[in-house]
Amino acid sequence: MGAPVNRSPQTYRVKSFGCQMNVYDGERMAELLSAQGLAPAEGEDADLVVLNTCHIREKAAEKVYSDIGRLRREDGTRPLVAVAGCVAQAEGAEIYRRTRDVDIVVGPQAYHRLPELVDAAARGSRPLDTDMPPVSKFDALPARARQVRASAFLTVQEGCDKFCTYCVVPYTRGAEVSRSWNAIMDEAKALVDAGAREITLLGQNVNAWSYDGRHLHDLIEELAKLPGLARIRYTTSHPNDMRDGLIAAHRDIPKLMPFLHLPVQSGSDRILKAMNRSHTSASYLAILDRVRDARPDIAISGDYIVGFPGETDADFEATLEIVRRIGHSMAFSFKYSPRPGTPAATMAEQIAPEVMDERLQRLQALIVEQQIAFNQRLVGRRTEVLLERPGKYPGQLIGKSPWLQSIVVDGGAVGELIEVDIVAAGPNSLTGVMSDRLAA
Ligand code: 5AD
Ligand code: SF4
Repeated sequence: MGAPVNRSPQTYRVKSFGCQMNVYDGERMAELLSAQGLAPAEGEDADLVVLNTCHIREKAAEKVYSDIGRLRREDGTRPLVAVAGCVAQAEGAEIYRRTRDVDIVVGPQAYHRLPELVDAAARGSRPLDTDMPPVSKFDALPARARQVRASAFLTVQEGCDKFCTYCVVPYTRGAEVSRSWNAIMDEAKALVDAGAREITLLGQNVNAWSYDGRHLHDLIEELAKLPGLARIRYTTSHPNDMRDGLIAAHRDIPKLMPFLHLPVQSGSDRILKAMNRSHTSASYLAILDRVRDARPDIAISGDYIVGFPGETDADFEATLEIVRRIGHSMAFSFKYSPRPGTPAATMAEQIAPEVMDERLQRLQALIVEQQIAFNQRLVGRRTEVLLERPGKYPGQLIGKSPWLQSIVVDGGAVGELIEVDIVAAGPNSLTGVMSDRLAA
């Protein structure tokens, strides 16, 4: 028997996991539900809970089932539950077979239909929508809500055609699709009118965005003309789509922040080939040289996978070596996780978990060392901070430096761009003291 459910929800909560695109999708789903007449829940408990899930690694994908279990209330009832995002796309009806405690399954390209699906679930059916319709969900979504954060996300591109052999994204998010110039500009203007001071353009391969012969740097150049917008960022990029124009934009457009998330994944050319990355460690480093020529202070972030099938000690040493040569401000590293349906999952020579653990520890220690060194270089310097949210203590605010470091400041207000003097630095955040306030 399933737990009793209230089938006419008044309140909702959307919980997003995984990447920033999911955060963006989560906000859009919340806007849809509000437009449908539901209210965002005040506390943890809601009549309808949307779990906006991530399928990139096994741990993330399995987490959804324990999350569903935790939604049961002490009195034995549970909320109406929707599983959205990439687990919904990848597992579809299998989710209904594995648990009785789910009422809606909706994929990342179909969530504009969420209101109909909620109605169907209210009638007791268990709707499943994992279509990848030719008409983009973006065309069907309502205009952006009036309340936005100081730093807002804007999805401009989705999907991936690169088919790295370890990755589920081409299957869960589909082929590369770019949103239109006008749709993006309209949404950006709405975000700025609603108070956004910074926009981060999002895409699985955001630098592959192209529309009508225009490329990402053209879009950035146009966005930089919006008077209320102070900062522009973009993520995630692929090395092979790092065009000259985008590199030049880092030199020419002051509003484009000096930060680049450019995953290389491994430092071993043998492994890069097996990953189907279609770049080498040398071609990656050559791109970085050009980026740093254009913008010498740029902060470089990245992603790494350790323990890809066949990775030898020498391959792993090559990864440590490329990290040393890059000098990251931050980077993410993961143990390889075999994903169903991807070519790497059935490759011979899968790596033992304890070997992966050891490699991950060594890599993360090196990255933390670089992160601390990068942060420490700012101590004693004055920099601009965009205040994004209240801090832990009264009067304290947390903002971001141009290089995306978190800065804790005593004073100011959310949405303000202020100058601070950096007085201390740790691995994950810095402390700033307010200098003069900058004009908006
Ligand atoms: N196993 C481990 N890490 C993965 N990533 C993608 N697929 C896998 C996988 N199967 C990592 C990559 C990517 C980041 C978002 O997640 O480093 O850049
Ligand atoms: Fe996955 Fe590779 Fe596409 Fe990135 S570029 S989403 S790692 S297939």
